[in-house]
Amino acid sequence: MDMFIVRGGERLSGSVSVSGAKNSALPLMAAAMACEGETTLYSIPDLVDVKTQSQVLGSLGMDVNRDPDGALRLKTVDETSCIADYELVRRMRASVCVLGPLLAKRRMACVSLPGGCNIGDRPIDLHLKGLSALGAQIRVDRGYVIARADRLRGANIFLGGAFGSTVTGTCNVMVAAALAKGTTTIESAACEPEVVDVGNFLNAAGAKIDGLGTPFLTIEGVEQLNGVKHEVIPDRIEAATLMIAAAITGGDVCLKEVRPDHITAVIEKLREIGVTVQLAFPDQPAKKQSVTVRVTQPLRSVDCIALPYPGIPTDVQAQLMSLLACVPGISIVTDKVFPDRFMHASELARMGVNIRRESASAILNGVSRLSGACVMASDLRASAALVLAGLAAEGETVIRRIYHLDRGYECLEEKLISLGAHVERVRDEPQNMPDSLKLTDGESRPSYSELLDALTGPHWNQSVSQQNTESVTASQDPADED
Ligand code: UD1
Repeated sequence: MDMFIVRGGERLSGSVSVSGAKNSALPLMAAAMACEGETTLYSIPDLVDVKTQSQVLGSLGMDVNRDPDGALRLKTVDETSCIADYELVRRMRASVCVLGPLLAKRRMACVSLPGGCNIGDRPIDLHLKGLSALGAQIRVDRGYVIARADRLRGANIFLGGAFGSTVTGTCNVMVAAALAKGTTTIESAACEPEVVDVGNFLNAAGAKIDGLGTPFLTIEGVEQLNGVKHEVIPDRIEAATLMIAAAITGGDVCLKEVRPDHITAVIEKLREIGVTVQLAFPDQPAKKQSVTVRVTQPLRSVDCIALPYPGIPTDVQAQLMSLLACVPGISIVTDKVFPDRFMHASELARMGVNIRRESASAILNGVSRLSGACVMASDLRASAALVLAGLAAEGETVIRRIYHLDRGYECLEEKLISLGAHVERVRDEPQNMPDSLKLTDGESRPSYSELLDALTGPHWNQSVSQQNTESVTASQDPADED
């Protein structure tokens, strides 16, 4: 297993390109199974999750190959298997996206239930509700969803749940309805750009889906979908993460290949915090373009709430919390999509910020400088948040279990390094722990003399008032997802 050693304090500058969206790529790959012939997907990021999805699809009789230019070609060569095995599904929840395509195309699906994860409850009841409404007979047996259907039939479906709409659930039902007999309406459909991307792909393949990007979809079923060439949208979560990296280091960074209209809420929030965000073409936010992020004034503490699109994404909540942890004053961060998604809060507390949890919120008393520490990544976005915190912290921060990052960010460390960050990937072994975080007995705690210095040195008053006094829970071994 690897870990990152981040040396904080460098101001990021320069320009960097954003990769294709992971959360589009995974359902798009699954949707290719519903198509006849070959599908070619461009700008699919090179990620562990993409490799896992390729394995899932391979186990279901698809040929998945990467061209040297990066294009991903997918084609069904064997339709006999309908089983998505637990060993693969447990590694990546998004593999549940094969449920709709399997049912629509092969009339049968046996897909492992993904189970819980570190960011909270992850039921798929809405997926099943939608597919049942289309005529599938569904039962859960020995941890697997077993679904059967003759030709699916169009239906009127309400897909809203207690926490709003469902992104992958909408994709699943949309693919199934595209091949159903008759018309389907989906109310409370997810409006996320990734759902629109999947819908646009299906329409190019021959589907008739109206209302993409709104909560009301009308889907006229067709007999067949045909593979097409499709370019994945830019990753709005990666874009937001890099924007926050620029902001947290007081930097000046130009991001290329961004769709600003996909991150309006994040841009607005950064501006409210005091960050300057400039679009190359402000009158054309719906175009792929560059966005410059710089800090020219002291930042302000604010409150923010993660909501379904077009709100601030829950996948950016942790990164925003890292930024606000470095802004003196009280900020409240609330997550209305995954109310328990706060594992990173305990780790940020280890870096010196005072954080208190109150149901779906975290109340932070930001500090002017975090202090580097050894922290544990609990899930994909939490890992990114800890890297950002490390960039801004004093001294060295060690982030362990960064395999989460490799699941969902393409070359994040290379991109940060190209902007001037000090990030080093090393094996997670005691001898690789930096001296600044070592105890004489080899454990990764400050040395006795450093502790003594902190207790008696000139920063005593300041550091005491900034310390977190709340008891924090230890990180658990993650079965993470997002
Ligand atoms: C997708 C994204 C993930 C993001 C999330 C919310 C992918 C691969 N992952 O996950 O990065 O964090 O959207 O934007 O695209 N829910 C139910 N019943 C269901 C399904 C969901 O109650 O059947 C609840 C969930 O527990 C959660 C909320 O609805 O509280 C949103 O979940 P959902 O949109 O389904 O998340 P995913 O599609 O799994």
